Amino acid sequence: MNHRPEQDRLPGDGRLEPDLEQMRRDGYAAIDLLVDHLATLPDRSVGQVGSADEMAERFSADPPDEGRPFEDVLSHAKKDIFDNSLLCNHPRFFAFVPGPSNFYGVLGDVLASGFNIFTGTWLESSGPSALELSMIDWLCRSVGLPPQSGGLFVSGGSVANLTGLAVARHDRLDDQTTDAVIYCSDQVHASVDKALHLLGFGSHQLRRIGTDSDFRLDPDSLRQAIAGDRARGKRPFCVVANAGSTNTGAVDPLAPLADICNKEGMWFHVDGAYGASAAFGRRSGELLADLGRADSLVLDPHKWMFQPFEIGAVLVRDRALLAGTFRTSADYMQDAKTIGQEVNFCDYGIQLSRGFRALKLWVTLQCLGLDAIREAIDRGIALAEMTELEVQSDDRFEVTSPACLGIVTFRYVGNESEAHARLDEINGAIPREIMATGEAVVTSTVLDGRMVLRMCVINPRTSEHDIHRTVTMLAEAGDRLTRDGT
Ligand SMILES: Cc1ncc(COP(=O)(O)O)c(C=O)c1O
Repeated sequence: MNHRPEQDRLPGDGRLEPDLEQMRRDGYAAIDLLVDHLATLPDRSVGQVGSADEMAERFSADPPDEGRPFEDVLSHAKKDIFDNSLLCNHPRFFAFVPGPSNFYGVLGDVLASGFNIFTGTWLESSGPSALELSMIDWLCRSVGLPPQSGGLFVSGGSVANLTGLAVARHDRLDDQTTDAVIYCSDQVHASVDKALHLLGFGSHQLRRIGTDSDFRLDPDSLRQAIAGDRARGKRPFCVVANAGSTNTGAVDPLAPLADICNKEGMWFHVDGAYGASAAFGRRSGELLADLGRADSLVLDPHKWMFQPFEIGAVLVRDRALLAGTFRTSADYMQDAKTIGQEVNFCDYGIQLSRGFRALKLWVTLQCLGLDAIREAIDRGIALAEMTELEVQSDDRFEVTSPACLGIVTFRYVGNESEAHARLDEINGAIPREIMATGEAVVTSTVLDGRMVLRMCVINPRTSEHDIHRTVTMLAEAGDRLTRDGT
């Protein structure tokens, strides 16, 4: 690799660059490991969880002074690192929000990282920035946002919520948070709490409005809360709506909430980190028809658009507000100043150095086509409906929220002879039992004060048999725990 004469060499010359043949061999070995892994995914355990002590022990050594062959490093990584993870892309990983990912997205990530593109400024990434603008523009158009909308890709929903709410604070409050009030349902994602805390709002400034029987924010209760706050001299300024809540997939009534925001001069932020992608499928019906009413909208391609972590999108109705909120100037950035339509993405958000997240989404869509994505999304919705039927057909369960955008929740009730508190214990213990088998991962949540089981079934690798097998395991685990104790 190093072509300089020996006498001109400085210490360290060439030490970071392997020989070209070695690069190819090591690169192919990494891809081979990945492809073998994907090929055998359904037959594997969903993964395992090591104890903190056991894991610390495995990584107790400091990095070596001298390197070792990549193949050693790869097998070490496989055994100690990858095999001690839960596989979010496994067909029977139904916990939280799975990350099904897809191979072309992975290749997009490899390329973005290999070319090490810096997408903070137009100067350093005119092509990549133009691609990101076009992907964002496409997302905006697809959800019905107007032509002046825009946005950027960030790490995921949490940072997207933070970014959107920072714009809201800047635009509507001139960053003065005193007496301002934000409204959301009691089903809002915790990242909204975190974002508001970081933005200088106290927890008393967030009003959690009760939900209806479908876990949707009730517009009448919202109106009353806003009127009450105004009467007390507070400043209602923002409503955060769910478009696919994490607990149940519920979509708040977007149009009535947008009307309230318009009338009250309030910002309308929609957290569609999980559910908004379903608008690209054909089975979400009218639920997501009004996403385009948002002032800011969050949509995570690393969830239901099958991208590898990390890629979330924050879309803002008026893209000028992004630069109004985030643009700063620095002496050392003069050469990166933009003209005309050029965009420095560092002016649109928190990051200066940022990777090329748009590439994986673009590579995926180019290679697989939109129809494949639409079908995969629709499949998730259909699988959730199937899961609901499977659960309904077993007397030991009761459905606690029907299938909605790929999520269904239910409660093991056995023969209904147990007290609620005891059933809470049993439902809380079932996920641990199942996880210990390595066969599936299902998690629990609390709905209306009761512990329930929750399955999020958006992975297109999941088969009907996987669903049947998992629901059966859950019922059997419930029976066992009832009989033998938790
Ligand atoms: C509705 C919703 N909002 C926000 C988030 C946070 O997204 P992330 O984990 O990508 O930061 C999630 C994560 O599951 C979510 O479901």
